[in-house]
Amino acid sequence: MADKFWKLGIIGWPLGYSLSPKMHMAALKAAGLEGQYEECPIKSNSLGESVHELAQLDDLQRGIEDWQRKGKLLDGFNVTMPFKSKAYVWIQKNGGEIKGALGSVAHAMHVINTVKIDQGKLFGYNTDGEGFIHPLRGVDLRDASAVILGAGGAARSVGISLGLSAGVKKIFFWNRTSENAARTVNALHSAFQFNDCNVVSEVREVLEALPVEECKILVNATSMGQQGKNEVPQEVLERLRPNQIVYDIVYEPRETALIKVAKERACRVITGDEMLAAQGAVAFKIWTGVPVEKTLPVMKKALEEHFADHA
Ligand code: ATR
Repeated sequence: MADKFWKLGIIGWPLGYSLSPKMHMAALKAAGLEGQYEECPIKSNSLGESVHELAQLDDLQRGIEDWQRKGKLLDGFNVTMPFKSKAYVWIQKNGGEIKGALGSVAHAMHVINTVKIDQGKLFGYNTDGEGFIHPLRGVDLRDASAVILGAGGAARSVGISLGLSAGVKKIFFWNRTSENAARTVNALHSAFQFNDCNVVSEVREVLEALPVEECKILVNATSMGQQGKNEVPQEVLERLRPNQIVYDIVYEPRETALIKVAKERACRVITGDEMLAAQGAVAFKIWTGVPVEKTLPVMKKALEEHFADHA
């Protein structure tokens, strides 16, 4: 193993903004491992059209094979937009296995973000849930209530992790499109039921009906606050209370309006780069076995340097 050269990378489209190469190259160096983590863009001509599901799967299969012929992605890779759900199907079609305890985020959502290749066999994981929960270790959220803004893949990972790992009792969702929030609540309900976990999750169609003041933790799992996008609405910001935990999964910019206001209001804040680094460190451990504690600090440092350069 000592002379192994790790061939890792990330697939998705587009990849120009990914911070993963910086984090994983820093982790390889810190762990004293030889290797490469490379961007392997895969363009799909049929993206976004569900009637072309099979075509998308073909694009993914061909794309991965092409990169592997070039000697890349041979030990494992991250999967990002728009392939996270296609990769879940791809793994199983190729005789692979979805890993993680029953009820894990990958199983519950049919979405993976990490693939490990071990002696030719494929293993799929979703490290977003663990990445989200990692900065919350040591925080007691048992029987607490939570507010989640959003209803996409990220919001579902957050909800499942809060319910199954952190033991929250009630989750209130708000989303720009409330039908999507209703779908998310149904998906969560099945995941919780399957795991004998009775977390109540509800949709609040209007912001005014969200119990912002009473929740112990509020999470922004939308892209609101991202560069060039609208911010989390005032109706939420002005109701934040001291000592609440405010967690924004947006990491660029690191300090969103939500985080700024939460700090001013003496909330405990967690920024999106913490989740980004933690999901990366969990993936790195899956591939190489190097403990999260060893690589998380260097991944965070790589992100610090990136933010300093782009300040
Ligand atoms: P992800 O997998 O990262 O969650 P996604 O599935 O595309 O990505 O979900 C994006 C989330 O951000 C959704 O909750 C989306 O709301 P809609 O369901 O109404 O689309 C939310 N979102 C994106 N842009 C938004 C905006 N400008 N204002 C409010 N919410 C927004």
